Amino acid sequence: MTLTNWWQQAVGYQIYPKSFYDSNNDGIGDLNGIRQKIPYLRKLGIDFVWLCPIYRSPGIDNGYDISDYRNIDPQYGTMEDFDNLIEAFHNYGIKVVMDMVLNHTSDQHNWFQQAKASASSPFHDYYIWKKGKNNGVPNNWKSIFGGSGWQYNSQTNEYYFHLYAAQQPDLNWENPKLRKEMHDVIKYWIQKGVDGFRLDAITHLKKLQTFEDVPDTDMATRNVPGIEVFLKDLKKLYDDCHIMTVGEVGAVPPEEAAKWVNPKNGFMDMLFQFDHVNFGDEHKFDFSTKSVSQIRKSLSHWQQAVEHEHGCLGLFVENHDLPRSISYFGNEEPDQREASAKAIALMYFLMKGIPFIYEGQELGMTNKHITSVSELNDVDSIRFYREELQKNINAQIALSKVAFKGRDNARTPVQWSNQQFGGFSVTEPWIEPNENYKEINVKDELTHHNSVFTFYQTMITIRKHNPTLQSGAFALEKKTADNVIAYRRVSNQETWLIVINLSNQPADYRIPSDLQKLTYEIMLSNDRIDINNNNFELDRWGATLIKFKNKE
Ligand code: NOJ
Repeated sequence: MTLTNWWQQAVGYQIYPKSFYDSNNDGIGDLNGIRQKIPYLRKLGIDFVWLCPIYRSPGIDNGYDISDYRNIDPQYGTMEDFDNLIEAFHNYGIKVVMDMVLNHTSDQHNWFQQAKASASSPFHDYYIWKKGKNNGVPNNWKSIFGGSGWQYNSQTNEYYFHLYAAQQPDLNWENPKLRKEMHDVIKYWIQKGVDGFRLDAITHLKKLQTFEDVPDTDMATRNVPGIEVFLKDLKKLYDDCHIMTVGEVGAVPPEEAAKWVNPKNGFMDMLFQFDHVNFGDEHKFDFSTKSVSQIRKSLSHWQQAVEHEHGCLGLFVENHDLPRSISYFGNEEPDQREASAKAIALMYFLMKGIPFIYEGQELGMTNKHITSVSELNDVDSIRFYREELQKNINAQIALSKVAFKGRDNARTPVQWSNQQFGGFSVTEPWIEPNENYKEINVKDELTHHNSVFTFYQTMITIRKHNPTLQSGAFALEKKTADNVIAYRRVSNQETWLIVINLSNQPADYRIPSDLQKLTYEIMLSNDRIDINNNNFELDRWGATLIKFKNKE
């Protein structure tokens, strides 16, 4: 298969600007801070960055509530800073992908301000309004952030719909004028030189137009039939402008992957699925232990769904909404942290798709372990905590849930050094840093040839120089111990075998019989691997990458 688009060989890196690097010492990360760290990103070897929202916003949901799509939020800098940033990235050969929030705005957006003031405003129909029913909300649709999805507006005596916080009213995509506005916003950023978009909450654009009660709000707000009309229109726009897109596509079953991302007429270039970080039957704040077999099954299921060129996946284990992967899949104990970080890295990074690294993941950053409510920052965690208390759940239990799964975990400042505040800023940061910056930080990891950073750097280089790891077929190794995930990437010339022990117990592995006679080379390991008679032992959290030559 020939890879014709720049992103097909690329490695992405997600930046949460507020927490990346503070250049003006106000405790908040900013655009100039990102610019100063481009050499670091170059050193890591990534090809593009995804910037979480930097548009003007009151910050209720840290920028996912946009009040002006055409300006930069002053806390991050100016438009000139943005222009300089994008130029600097491009000078380093790094592409820039912006987060695009098309489903909702902030309630402070000028459109909404006018829409709520009068039902006859031309902007009224940019949002979703309904009259109340039986002295209450129009229907039983719920917000993902808890409670009813409807908020009363006394000025028009109506309710508006918000899938997320009440300060994030949903846009009405049925309105062609609104659609045109959003297309214009996209064009505006394309003209500024951005190379792609991460499409936020993209499965929610269409709402069930009967507005009837439903057993589950997803049925009325997620992947509702008819959404394809909006998505195809958007796809045409991106294609005309040669823009890459990656969609946040939750709750689409693997069987439908091709519809979303097949290269001929899919709705976007690639998608993020969430099955491996959010098993179906689980509430987002519940913690359950993931069995290795569950992880293996969900990851491989998606790999199989896109085989035969059915489309492309964005591969990830962390983002700004999730706990740190070591805390979730691995082991934070000081003697296991690095090994488990590397095992998790090999587990997902060399699967078929485009790997993304979330800031700090390449260092092996861990969850923060908050111990007090005052440390909570995230709108959804605070909301959940309060609701639990109202349900008479014990305060300690409620806190432990948000402490483990809450979104603040991923949002603590990047740990640049062992200096105060992890070298992120000289002023107290907007969110408390993780105290472990003294042990886990960029400065130290750059000097250690065995660090998690170095492991990621090596993995990126290997992937870059070996086309089989970019476009070769994926095949799961089915015969493994329960605590092992093993898979192959295959081309005519070679077979790469990736074997990961995702547990605190050692594991034995036997090279599959069809590979046993081939010449091999161990390309990367986080552990000493001795292959004897086609068998080897992986230490706890051991992981290895072996390349076999198919023919001499
Ligand atoms: C998904 C984003 O990743 C999340 O951070 C945000 O809260 C919601 N979409 C709403 O925009």
